Amino acid sequence: MSKKLWGGGFSQTASVKREEFWNSIGFDQRLAKFDIQGSMAHARMLGACGIVPEDDVAKIIGGLTSILDDLNSGNLEFRLEDEDIHMNIERTLTEKIGPVAGKLHTARSRNDQVVLDMHLYVRHEAEEISTLLRELAKAFLKQAAQNIATIMPGYTHLQRAQPVTFAHHLLAYVWMFVRDMERIKSVQKSVSFSPLGAGALAGTTFPIDRDYVAQELGFDGIYQNSLDAVSNRDFILELLSANAIIAAHLSRFCEEVILWVSSEFSFVKLSDAYCTGSSMMPQKKNADLAELVRGKTGRVYGALTTMLTVIKGLPLAYNKDFQEDKECLFDSVDTIKGCLYHLTGMVETMSAKPESMLAATKQGFLNATDFADYLVGKGLPFREAHEISARLVAQCLEQGRTLEDLSLDEWTSIHPLIGGDVLDAINIRNVLDRRQSQGGPAPVRVKEQIEILSKLLG
Ligand code: ARG
Repeated sequence: MSKKLWGGGFSQTASVKREEFWNSIGFDQRLAKFDIQGSMAHARMLGACGIVPEDDVAKIIGGLTSILDDLNSGNLEFRLEDEDIHMNIERTLTEKIGPVAGKLHTARSRNDQVVLDMHLYVRHEAEEISTLLRELAKAFLKQAAQNIATIMPGYTHLQRAQPVTFAHHLLAYVWMFVRDMERIKSVQKSVSFSPLGAGALAGTTFPIDRDYVAQELGFDGIYQNSLDAVSNRDFILELLSANAIIAAHLSRFCEEVILWVSSEFSFVKLSDAYCTGSSMMPQKKNADLAELVRGKTGRVYGALTTMLTVIKGLPLAYNKDFQEDKECLFDSVDTIKGCLYHLTGMVETMSAKPESMLAATKQGFLNATDFADYLVGKGLPFREAHEISARLVAQCLEQGRTLEDLSLDEWTSIHPLIGGDVLDAINIRNVLDRRQSQGGPAPVRVKEQIEILSKLLG
Protein backbone atom coordinates (compact mmCIF):
# COMPACT_ATOMS: atom_id res chain seq x y z
CA MET A 1 0.00 0.00 0.00
CA SER A 2 1.39 3.39 -0.90
CA LYS A 3 0.60 7.08 -1.24
CA LYS A 4 1.05 8.64 -4.66
CA LEU A 5 2.82 11.83 -5.65
CA TRP A 6 -0.45 12.81 -7.25
CA GLY A 7 -2.37 11.43 -4.28
CA GLY A 8 -3.30 14.71 -2.53
CA GLY A 9 -6.99 14.33 -3.28
CA PHE A 10 -7.19 10.55 -3.04
CA SER A 11 -8.30 8.68 0.07
CA GLN A 12 -7.72 5.04 -0.91
CA THR A 13 -4.40 3.38 -1.48
CA ALA A 14 -3.63 0.74 -4.07
CA SER A 15 -3.09 -2.99 -3.84
CA VAL A 16 0.01 -4.61 -5.32
CA LYS A 17 -2.17 -6.42 -7.82
CA ARG A 18 -3.54 -3.12 -9.04
CA GLU A 19 -0.04 -1.62 -9.21
CA GLU A 20 1.24 -4.48 -11.29
CA PHE A 21 -1.51 -4.05 -13.83
CA TRP A 22 -1.54 -0.25 -13.82
CA ASN A 23 2.04 0.76 -13.51
CA SER A 24 4.64 1.07 -16.22
CA ILE A 25 7.87 1.10 -14.22
CA GLY A 26 8.39 -2.56 -15.10
CA PHE A 27 9.10 -1.53 -18.69
CA ASP A 28 9.51 2.23 -18.88
CA GLN A 29 12.58 2.14 -16.63
CA ARG A 30 14.58 1.89 -19.83
CA LEU A 31 13.65 5.55 -20.40
CA ALA A 32 15.54 6.55 -17.25
CA LYS A 33 18.51 8.28 -18.86
CA PHE A 34 16.26 10.17 -21.27
CA ASP A 35 13.97 11.22 -18.45
CA ILE A 36 16.93 12.57 -16.49
CA GLN A 37 18.30 14.30 -19.56
CA GLY A 38 14.92 15.97 -20.17
CA SER A 39 14.59 16.98 -16.52
CA MET A 40 18.03 18.57 -16.52
CA ALA A 41 17.14 20.68 -19.55
CA HIS A 42 13.81 21.63 -17.99
CA ALA A 43 15.47 22.59 -14.70
CA ARG A 44 18.05 24.76 -16.46
CA MET A 45 15.29 26.51 -18.36
CA LEU A 46 13.34 27.14 -15.14
CA GLY A 47 16.47 28.76 -13.74
CA ALA A 48 17.24 30.78 -16.86
CA CYS A 49 13.67 32.11 -16.99
CA GLY A 50 13.71 33.06 -13.30
CA ILE A 51 10.92 30.62 -12.45
CA VAL A 52 13.04 28.66 -9.96
CA PRO A 53 15.99 30.29 -8.12
CA GLU A 54 19.38 29.32 -9.57
CA ASP A 55 20.66 27.76 -6.33
CA ASP A 56 17.63 25.46 -6.25
CA VAL A 57 18.30 24.59 -9.88
CA ALA A 58 21.90 23.77 -8.93
CA LYS A 59 20.64 21.40 -6.21
CA ILE A 60 18.22 19.76 -8.64
CA ILE A 61 20.93 19.31 -11.27
CA GLY A 62 23.30 17.92 -8.62
CA GLY A 63 20.62 15.45 -7.53
CA LEU A 64 19.81 14.39 -11.07
CA THR A 65 23.51 13.93 -11.82
CA SER A 66 23.84 11.67 -8.82
CA ILE A 67 20.76 9.68 -9.98
CA LEU A 68 22.40 9.32 -13.38
CA ASP A 69 25.55 7.98 -11.69
CA ASP A 70 23.43 5.51 -9.75
CA LEU A 71 21.76 4.46 -12.98
CA ASN A 72 25.07 3.96 -14.78
CA SER A 73 26.52 1.94 -11.93
CA GLY A 74 23.38 -0.19 -11.66
CA ASN A 75 22.49 1.21 -8.25
CA LEU A 76 19.29 3.02 -9.09
CA GLU A 77 16.41 1.28 -7.42
CA PHE A 78 13.00 1.28 -9.09
CA ARG A 79 9.89 0.79 -6.98
CA LEU A 80 6.65 -0.63 -8.29
CA GLU A 81 4.57 1.65 -6.10
CA ASP A 82 6.15 4.68 -7.74
CA GLU A 83 4.11 3.90 -10.82
CA ASP A 84 6.36 4.96 -13.65
CA ILE A 85 9.82 6.20 -14.49
CA HIS A 86 8.91 9.85 -13.95
CA MET A 87 7.61 9.26 -10.44
CA ASN A 88 10.49 6.96 -9.59
CA ILE A 89 13.05 9.58 -10.51
CA GLU A 90 11.17 12.35 -8.73
CA ARG A 91 10.88 10.24 -5.60
CA THR A 92 14.59 9.41 -5.71
CA LEU A 93 15.41 13.08 -6.25
CA THR A 94 13.33 13.98 -3.20
CA GLU A 95 15.24 11.41 -1.15
CA LYS A 96 18.52 12.91 -2.29
CA ILE A 97 17.88 16.66 -2.05
CA GLY A 98 14.69 17.03 -0.02
CA PRO A 99 11.54 19.07 -0.75
CA VAL A 100 13.32 21.37 -3.23
CA ALA A 101 12.97 18.41 -5.67
CA GLY A 102 9.29 19.32 -5.85
CA LYS A 103 10.19 22.49 -7.79
CA LEU A 104 11.36 20.46 -10.79
CA HIS A 105 7.85 19.68 -11.92
CA THR A 106 6.89 23.37 -12.16
CA ALA A 107 5.37 24.13 -15.57
CA ARG A 108 5.53 20.50 -16.59
CA SER A 109 3.19 17.52 -16.71
CA ARG A 110 3.95 13.88 -17.09
CA ASN A 111 2.08 14.18 -20.37
CA ASP A 112 4.69 16.35 -22.04
CA GLN A 113 7.44 14.63 -20.05
CA VAL A 114 6.63 11.14 -21.28
CA VAL A 115 6.32 12.14 -24.91
CA LEU A 116 9.64 14.00 -24.62
CA ASP A 117 11.25 10.84 -23.25
CA MET A 118 9.84 8.87 -26.15
CA HIS A 119 11.26 11.37 -28.63
CA LEU A 120 14.70 11.06 -27.06
CA TYR A 121 14.44 7.27 -27.01
CA VAL A 122 13.36 7.05 -30.65
CA ARG A 123 16.08 9.49 -31.68
CA HIS A 124 18.70 7.35 -29.96
CA GLU A 125 17.44 4.01 -31.25
CA ALA A 126 16.92 5.27 -34.80
CA GLU A 127 20.62 6.10 -34.90
CA GLU A 128 21.52 2.62 -33.67
CA ILE A 129 19.25 0.92 -36.19
CA SER A 130 20.71 3.05 -38.94
CA THR A 131 24.26 2.01 -37.96
CA LEU A 132 23.29 -1.65 -37.86
CA LEU A 133 21.60 -1.38 -41.27
CA ARG A 134 24.75 0.18 -42.68
CA GLU A 135 26.86 -2.65 -41.30
CA LEU A 136 24.57 -5.29 -42.75
CA ALA A 137 24.54 -3.50 -46.10
CA LYS A 138 28.34 -3.41 -46.06
CA ALA A 139 28.53 -7.14 -45.38
CA PHE A 140 26.31 -7.72 -48.41
CA LEU A 141 28.41 -5.37 -50.47
CA LYS A 142 31.57 -7.26 -49.56
CA GLN A 143 30.00 -10.58 -50.57
CA ALA A 144 28.83 -8.99 -53.79
CA ALA A 145 32.30 -7.69 -54.62
CA GLN A 146 33.61 -11.24 -54.33
CA ASN A 147 30.90 -12.65 -56.57
CA ILE A 148 30.70 -10.32 -59.56
CA ALA A 149 31.42 -13.22 -61.91
CA THR A 150 29.46 -15.87 -59.99
CA ILE A 151 26.67 -16.77 -62.37
CA MET A 152 23.43 -17.99 -60.87
CA PRO A 153 19.91 -18.44 -62.14
CA GLY A 154 17.59 -15.50 -61.66
CA TYR A 155 14.02 -16.52 -60.87
CA THR A 156 10.46 -15.50 -61.49
CA HIS A 157 7.67 -17.54 -59.89
CA LEU A 158 10.57 -19.42 -58.26
CA GLN A 159 11.30 -20.89 -61.70
CA ARG A 160 14.66 -20.43 -63.31
CA ALA A 161 14.29 -17.51 -65.69
CA GLN A 162 17.43 -15.73 -66.88
CA PRO A 163 21.01 -15.72 -65.70
CA VAL A 164 22.15 -13.13 -63.17
CA THR A 165 25.08 -13.14 -60.77
CA PHE A 166 25.18 -13.73 -57.05
CA ALA A 167 26.52 -10.18 -56.74
CA HIS A 168 23.57 -8.73 -58.60
CA HIS A 169 21.14 -10.70 -56.48
CA LEU A 170 22.75 -9.58 -53.22
CA LEU A 171 22.89 -5.97 -54.34
CA ALA A 172 19.11 -5.96 -54.78
CA TYR A 173 18.97 -6.35 -51.00
CA VAL A 174 21.50 -3.60 -50.44
CA TRP A 175 19.17 -1.20 -52.27
CA MET A 176 16.37 -2.27 -49.94
CA PHE A 177 18.61 -1.46 -46.97
CA VAL A 178 19.47 1.91 -48.48
CA ARG A 179 15.74 2.69 -48.64
CA ASP A 180 15.34 1.39 -45.09
CA MET A 181 18.02 3.84 -43.97
CA GLU A 182 16.13 6.65 -45.73
CA ARG A 183 12.98 5.70 -43.86
CA ILE A 184 14.87 5.77 -40.57
CA LYS A 185 16.22 9.18 -41.50
CA SER A 186 12.70 10.39 -41.97
CA VAL A 187 11.82 9.06 -38.49
CA GLN A 188 14.75 11.07 -37.15
CA LYS A 189 13.26 14.17 -38.77
CA SER A 190 9.95 13.46 -37.11
CA VAL A 191 11.54 13.46 -33.67
CA SER A 192 13.47 16.67 -34.17
CA PHE A 193 10.86 18.81 -32.36
CA SER A 194 10.54 19.27 -28.64
CA PRO A 195 7.11 18.66 -27.09
CA LEU A 196 8.19 19.92 -23.65
CA GLY A 197 6.30 22.93 -22.41
CA ALA A 198 2.99 21.68 -23.75
CA GLY A 199 2.18 20.88 -20.13
CA ALA A 200 -0.75 18.56 -19.49
CA LEU A 201 -2.39 19.75 -22.69
CA ALA A 202 -2.77 23.53 -22.65
CA GLY A 203 0.67 24.94 -21.96
CA THR A 204 1.34 26.87 -18.77
CA THR A 205 0.98 30.31 -17.24
CA PHE A 206 4.66 30.35 -16.26
CA PRO A 207 6.96 32.38 -18.54
CA ILE A 208 8.82 29.32 -19.88
CA ASP A 209 11.16 29.27 -22.85
CA ARG A 210 10.44 26.18 -24.92
CA ASP A 211 13.16 26.98 -27.45
CA TYR A 212 15.73 26.98 -24.64
CA VAL A 213 14.82 23.38 -23.77
CA ALA A 214 14.72 22.40 -27.44
CA GLN A 215 18.21 23.78 -27.99
CA GLU A 216 19.54 22.25 -24.81
CA LEU A 217 18.37 18.82 -26.00
CA GLY A 218 19.54 19.21 -29.58
CA PHE A 219 16.13 19.53 -31.24
CA ASP A 220 15.62 21.67 -34.34
CA GLY A 221 12.46 23.31 -33.01
CA ILE A 222 9.32 22.86 -30.94
CA TYR A 223 5.79 21.58 -31.52
CA GLN A 224 3.62 24.60 -32.30
CA ASN A 225 0.41 23.18 -30.83
CA SER A 226 0.32 21.99 -27.24
CA LEU A 227 -2.49 19.50 -27.89
CA ASP A 228 -0.64 18.03 -30.83
CA ALA A 229 2.58 17.84 -28.80
CA VAL A 230 1.13 15.65 -26.05
CA SER A 231 -1.08 13.49 -28.22
CA ASN A 232 1.24 12.84 -31.14
CA ARG A 233 2.48 9.28 -31.45
CA ASP A 234 3.02 9.36 -35.22
CA PHE A 235 6.76 9.12 -34.75
CA ILE A 236 6.25 5.82 -32.94
CA LEU A 237 4.07 4.52 -35.75
CA GLU A 238 6.74 5.65 -38.19
CA LEU A 239 9.54 3.76 -36.47
CA LEU A 240 7.30 0.71 -36.09
CA SER A 241 6.47 0.76 -39.77
CA ALA A 242 10.07 1.35 -40.81
CA ASN A 243 10.96 -1.65 -38.65
CA ALA A 244 8.16 -3.70 -40.19
CA ILE A 245 9.51 -3.00 -43.66
CA ILE A 246 13.05 -3.89 -42.52
CA ALA A 247 11.64 -7.13 -41.10
CA ALA A 248 9.97 -7.86 -44.45
CA HIS A 249 13.29 -7.41 -46.25
CA LEU A 250 15.20 -9.55 -43.80
CA SER A 251 12.54 -12.21 -43.95
CA ARG A 252 12.64 -12.37 -47.74
CA PHE A 253 16.40 -12.75 -47.65
CA CYS A 254 16.23 -15.39 -44.92
CA GLU A 255 13.73 -17.37 -46.93
CA GLU A 256 16.19 -17.36 -49.83
CA VAL A 257 19.04 -18.46 -47.59
CA ILE A 258 16.92 -21.32 -46.30
CA LEU A 259 16.29 -22.40 -49.88
CA TRP A 260 19.91 -21.87 -50.88
CA VAL A 261 21.34 -24.10 -48.16
CA SER A 262 18.89 -26.91 -48.92
CA SER A 263 20.26 -29.79 -50.99
CA GLU A 264 17.67 -28.92 -53.64
CA PHE A 265 19.58 -25.70 -54.31
CA SER A 266 22.93 -26.01 -52.57
CA PHE A 267 23.97 -22.48 -53.63
CA VAL A 268 25.42 -21.31 -50.35
CA LYS A 269 27.29 -22.58 -47.35
CA LEU A 270 26.73 -21.04 -43.93
CA SER A 271 29.19 -21.01 -41.09
CA ASP A 272 28.35 -23.60 -38.45
CA ALA A 273 27.92 -20.76 -35.99
CA TYR A 274 24.63 -19.86 -37.67
CA CYS A 275 23.27 -23.38 -38.02
CA THR A 276 22.05 -26.07 -35.67
CA GLY A 277 21.82 -29.81 -35.95
CA SER A 278 18.85 -32.02 -35.28
CA SER A 279 18.54 -33.97 -32.05
CA MET A 280 17.39 -36.98 -34.07
CA MET A 281 18.69 -36.76 -37.62
CA PRO A 282 22.49 -36.68 -37.67
CA GLN A 283 22.75 -35.45 -41.26
CA LYS A 284 20.90 -32.20 -40.60
CA LYS A 285 22.35 -28.72 -40.59
CA ASN A 286 19.54 -26.25 -40.33
CA ALA A 287 19.77 -22.55 -41.18
CA ASP A 288 18.40 -21.78 -37.74
CA LEU A 289 19.22 -18.10 -37.55
CA ALA A 290 17.59 -17.42 -40.92
CA GLU A 291 14.47 -19.25 -39.78
CA LEU A 292 14.42 -17.39 -36.49
CA VAL A 293 14.75 -13.99 -38.16
CA ARG A 294 12.02 -14.94 -40.64
CA GLY A 295 9.85 -15.90 -37.67
CA LYS A 296 10.60 -12.68 -35.76
CA THR A 297 8.83 -10.78 -38.52
CA GLY A 298 5.57 -11.77 -36.84
CA ARG A 299 6.19 -9.78 -33.67
CA VAL A 300 7.60 -6.79 -35.54
CA TYR A 301 4.43 -6.60 -37.67
CA GLY A 302 2.40 -7.26 -34.54
CA ALA A 303 3.92 -4.24 -32.80
CA LEU A 304 2.81 -1.98 -35.64
CA THR A 305 -0.69 -3.41 -35.54
CA THR A 306 -0.78 -2.96 -31.77
CA MET A 307 0.09 0.70 -31.96
CA LEU A 308 -2.19 1.47 -34.88
CA THR A 309 -5.00 -0.06 -32.86
CA VAL A 310 -4.07 1.72 -29.63
CA ILE A 311 -4.13 5.13 -31.27
CA LYS A 312 -7.31 4.57 -33.25
CA GLY A 313 -10.25 6.59 -31.99
CA LEU A 314 -8.35 8.30 -29.14
CA PRO A 315 -9.72 11.75 -28.42
CA LEU A 316 -7.26 14.59 -27.86
CA ALA A 317 -5.16 14.99 -25.87
CA TYR A 318 -3.41 12.55 -23.48
CA ASN A 319 -5.11 9.27 -22.63
CA LYS A 320 -3.74 6.49 -20.48
CA ASP A 321 -3.96 4.24 -23.53
CA PHE A 322 -0.68 5.86 -24.57
CA GLN A 323 1.13 3.90 -21.88
CA GLU A 324 0.61 0.97 -24.26
CA ASP A 325 2.94 2.58 -26.81
CA LYS A 326 6.03 1.38 -24.98
CA GLU A 327 6.25 -2.38 -24.81
CA CYS A 328 5.42 -2.85 -28.48
CA LEU A 329 7.95 -0.22 -29.50
CA PHE A 330 10.69 -1.57 -27.23
CA ASP A 331 10.10 -5.08 -28.49
CA SER A 332 10.13 -4.01 -32.11
CA VAL A 333 13.38 -2.07 -31.63
CA ASP A 334 15.11 -4.86 -29.69
CA THR A 335 14.00 -7.45 -32.22
CA ILE A 336 15.12 -5.51 -35.27
CA LYS A 337 18.48 -4.68 -33.69
CA GLY A 338 19.06 -8.34 -32.85
CA CYS A 339 18.08 -9.46 -36.35
CA LEU A 340 20.34 -6.92 -38.05
CA TYR A 341 23.28 -7.71 -35.82
CA HIS A 342 23.17 -11.48 -36.16
CA LEU A 343 22.40 -11.47 -39.87
CA THR A 344 25.46 -9.31 -40.45
CA GLY A 345 27.58 -12.06 -38.93
CA MET A 346 25.83 -14.71 -40.98
CA VAL A 347 26.34 -12.83 -44.25
CA GLU A 348 29.98 -12.05 -43.47
CA THR A 349 30.74 -15.72 -42.94
CA MET A 350 28.62 -17.30 -45.65
CA SER A 351 30.17 -18.54 -48.86
CA ALA A 352 28.77 -19.01 -52.32
CA LYS A 353 29.05 -22.33 -54.19
CA PRO A 354 29.73 -21.09 -57.73
CA GLU A 355 29.80 -24.55 -59.34
CA SER A 356 26.33 -25.45 -58.08
CA MET A 357 24.98 -22.08 -59.13
CA LEU A 358 26.48 -22.44 -62.58
CA ALA A 359 25.19 -26.01 -62.91
CA ALA A 360 21.70 -24.74 -62.10
CA THR A 361 21.91 -22.27 -64.97
CA LYS A 362 22.46 -25.17 -67.37
CA GLN A 363 18.97 -26.51 -66.70
CA GLY A 364 15.87 -24.46 -67.22
CA PHE A 365 16.55 -22.81 -70.59
CA LEU A 366 17.81 -19.56 -69.14
CA ASN A 367 19.05 -18.66 -72.62
CA ALA A 368 15.70 -19.13 -74.37
CA THR A 369 15.04 -15.37 -74.39
CA ASP A 370 18.50 -14.81 -75.80
CA PHE A 371 17.85 -17.21 -78.65
CA ALA A 372 14.68 -15.23 -79.41
CA ASP A 373 16.69 -11.97 -79.17
CA TYR A 374 19.23 -13.52 -81.58
CA LEU A 375 16.48 -14.06 -84.15
CA VAL A 376 15.28 -10.50 -83.60
CA GLY A 377 18.83 -9.40 -84.36
CA LYS A 378 18.50 -11.25 -87.66
CA GLY A 379 15.39 -9.25 -88.51
CA LEU A 380 12.47 -11.35 -87.18
CA PRO A 381 9.72 -9.64 -85.18
CA PHE A 382 10.04 -10.51 -81.46
CA ARG A 383 6.66 -12.29 -81.29
CA GLU A 384 7.65 -14.64 -84.10
CA ALA A 385 11.08 -15.19 -82.60
CA HIS A 386 9.48 -15.94 -79.22
CA GLU A 387 7.30 -18.60 -80.79
CA ILE A 388 10.21 -20.32 -82.54
CA SER A 389 12.19 -20.32 -79.31
CA ALA A 390 9.25 -21.63 -77.29
CA ARG A 391 8.71 -24.47 -79.79
CA LEU A 392 12.37 -25.39 -79.62
CA VAL A 393 12.32 -25.41 -75.82
CA ALA A 394 9.27 -27.70 -75.82
CA GLN A 395 11.02 -30.04 -78.22
CA CYS A 396 14.20 -30.14 -76.13
CA LEU A 397 12.18 -30.73 -72.97
CA GLU A 398 10.55 -33.71 -74.58
CA GLN A 399 13.94 -35.12 -75.56
CA GLY A 400 15.54 -34.26 -72.23
CA ARG A 401 18.10 -31.96 -73.85
CA THR A 402 19.24 -28.37 -73.39
CA LEU A 403 19.82 -25.72 -76.06
CA GLU A 404 23.56 -26.25 -75.59
CA ASP A 405 23.14 -29.90 -76.62
CA LEU A 406 21.99 -29.02 -80.15
CA SER A 407 24.45 -29.51 -83.02
CA LEU A 408 25.04 -26.73 -85.53
CA ASP A 409 23.15 -28.77 -88.16
CA GLU A 410 20.17 -28.97 -85.90
CA TRP A 411 20.33 -25.22 -85.30
CA THR A 412 20.51 -24.28 -88.97
CA SER A 413 17.58 -26.57 -89.80
CA ILE A 414 15.32 -24.58 -87.42
CA HIS A 415 15.32 -21.37 -89.47
CA PRO A 416 17.28 -20.16 -92.51
CA LEU A 417 18.39 -17.02 -90.61
CA ILE A 418 20.29 -19.05 -88.02
CA GLY A 419 24.06 -19.24 -88.48
CA GLY A 420 27.09 -20.49 -86.56
CA ASP A 421 27.04 -17.38 -84.39
CA VAL A 422 24.01 -18.80 -82.56
CA LEU A 423 26.31 -20.87 -80.35
CA ASP A 424 27.94 -17.74 -78.98
CA ALA A 425 24.56 -16.11 -78.62
CA ILE A 426 23.22 -18.81 -76.30
CA ASN A 427 26.38 -19.34 -74.27
CA ILE A 428 25.38 -18.58 -70.68
CA ARG A 429 28.39 -16.43 -69.83
CA ASN A 430 27.93 -14.42 -73.03
CA VAL A 431 24.25 -14.11 -72.26
CA LEU A 432 25.13 -12.61 -68.91
CA ASP A 433 27.88 -10.35 -70.24
CA ARG A 434 25.53 -8.90 -72.81
CA ARG A 435 22.88 -7.90 -70.28
CA GLN A 436 24.42 -4.47 -70.04
CA SER A 437 21.29 -2.34 -69.94
CA GLN A 438 21.29 0.14 -67.06
CA GLY A 439 20.71 -1.74 -63.81
CA GLY A 440 21.43 -5.06 -65.52
CA PRO A 441 23.46 -8.01 -64.19
CA ALA A 442 26.46 -7.83 -66.59
CA PRO A 443 29.66 -7.55 -64.54
CA VAL A 444 30.47 -4.09 -65.98
CA ARG A 445 27.15 -2.78 -64.72
CA VAL A 446 27.42 -4.55 -61.37
CA LYS A 447 30.82 -2.97 -60.79
CA GLU A 448 29.19 0.42 -61.29
CA GLN A 449 26.48 -0.48 -58.79
CA ILE A 450 29.09 -1.48 -56.24
CA GLU A 451 30.86 1.83 -56.70
CA ILE A 452 27.66 3.82 -56.22
CA LEU A 453 26.72 1.82 -53.15
CA SER A 454 30.19 2.01 -51.62
CA LYS A 455 29.98 5.78 -51.82
CA LEU A 456 26.45 5.82 -50.41
CA LEU A 457 27.37 3.62 -47.46
CA GLY A 458 30.65 5.39 -46.72
N1 ARG B 1 3.28 6.19 -17.49
C1 ARG B 1 2.55 7.12 -18.28
C2 ARG B 1 2.65 6.74 -19.78
O1 ARG B 1 3.43 5.93 -20.07
C3 ARG B 1 3.11 8.49 -18.08
C4 ARG B 1 2.17 9.62 -18.30
C5 ARG B 1 1.11 9.61 -17.28
N2 ARG B 1 0.24 10.74 -17.40
C6 ARG B 1 -0.97 10.76 -16.84
N3 ARG B 1 -1.68 11.84 -16.97
N4 ARG B 1 -1.42 9.75 -16.15
O2 ARG B 1 1.95 7.25 -20.60
